[in-house]
Amino acid sequence: DPLPRVPTATCSGPLGQHFPEPGPVRYLPGEDGGVGRWIVTRYADVVAALTDPRLSNKSYAAADPTSHEPNDQLGWSMVAADPPDHTRLRKQVVRAFSAKQVETLRPRVQRIVDELLDAVAVSDEIDLVETFVFPLPVRVICHILGIPRTACDRLLDAAHTAEVPAAGVPLECAENVLREVIDDRHARRTDDLLGGLVTARNNHKLSDTEVLELARLLFVSGHLTTVTLISHGIAALLDDPELRALLRDSPAHVSSMVDELLRCAGPVPSVPRYAVEDVDIGGAVIPGGSYVAVMLMSANHDPITFTDPHAFDIHRRTRDDVAFGHGIHFCLGARLAKMEAELALGTLVGRFPDLAPAGPAPDDRPLSLRVHLHGHGNGGTAPPD
Ligand code: HEM
Repeated sequence: DPLPRVPTATCSGPLGQHFPEPGPVRYLPGEDGGVGRWIVTRYADVVAALTDPRLSNKSYAAADPTSHEPNDQLGWSMVAADPPDHTRLRKQVVRAFSAKQVETLRPRVQRIVDELLDAVAVSDEIDLVETFVFPLPVRVICHILGIPRTACDRLLDAAHTAEVPAAGVPLECAENVLREVIDDRHARRTDDLLGGLVTARNNHKLSDTEVLELARLLFVSGHLTTVTLISHGIAALLDDPELRALLRDSPAHVSSMVDELLRCAGPVPSVPRYAVEDVDIGGAVIPGGSYVAVMLMSANHDPITFTDPHAFDIHRRTRDDVAFGHGIHFCLGARLAKMEAELALGTLVGRFPDLAPAGPAPDDRPLSLRVHLHGHGNGGTAPPD
């Protein structure tokens, strides 16, 4: 290894994640002959990188961003596009995720949370991820897109029986359902998001491929990210009885806890970019034609921006973290994801104040969180140490 290894750091508590310590912009050779990349880690450099038009998002689209071969996951979707295409595509969906629009969804999201918890409330030991955390964002995004409940249940069933349980709803299955609903919207107008995309297509603002790609992006990007955020929240609650009591007694703290979960252990540790020409950042020059990894989690632990950055502190004042990115690609679903996490964690801790861990996750289900909903089965109080 000719270059020094990058020192890594973790956040304290059960959320421990590894990411490079903030430092100068540096080159990391690829492992096993793979492509090397430049990594950007300091907060100021990350913000500069995410607002620099010379760093293209086409890195998402293909192994070789200069080719026109889309990859399976994000294809030619909005997150893999640069202006002016990105601007045109984002315009078609941005209103559905505005603060005002997301707020109108609050009662519906609360109802989904309540229904999922009602279904498990009589059980004692359950896997909270399988029964609650995993279906929540799928049910929410299906509602927004206009996917009927029966089709949504089909998607959840497919995820449960998938060979790789941690991978979410199988993409092929999601695509089939999206195609069916899009076909239906061609036949009759509806005021859901897929109906809106089909209208935009009929007004020549989107192509058929772009309608499907946008729908696919919205379905994929809000799912496992939100599952991870809420799972981290539950892990933190299970680990810390004082935190549980605080949130139960003053629910207003749930929002700051979600903010701190995002800063400390955000579900998207880094985002890729591709330098279309030489780019100077933080005193280094990234040569044109290079791949770049913009390390969001490193930036969120930069001591210049965040005091005592490795402490999980829900009372911290600095809130300008980059867990949802920054600049023109700032996460479209940020408000929605935060609302889902706040309602999920707040309702859970309010309804099940004696929630307690019930053993480690099985090897084949790394996302699993087994809990006793009503304490350790001895009347709701924890056993003596
Ligand atoms: C973009 C994180 C939930 C939809 C992004 C980006 C990040 C991110 C870091 C920027 C990508 C880049 O700059 O390359 C997260 C996290 C989430 C979450 C941490 C949950 C905790 C959601 C949800 C939705 C969503 C719920 C929608 C239903 C999108 C879309 C983009 C995006 C469409 C692309 C925006 C663009 O290219 O203009 N997200 N996301 N995300 N996110 Fe999220």
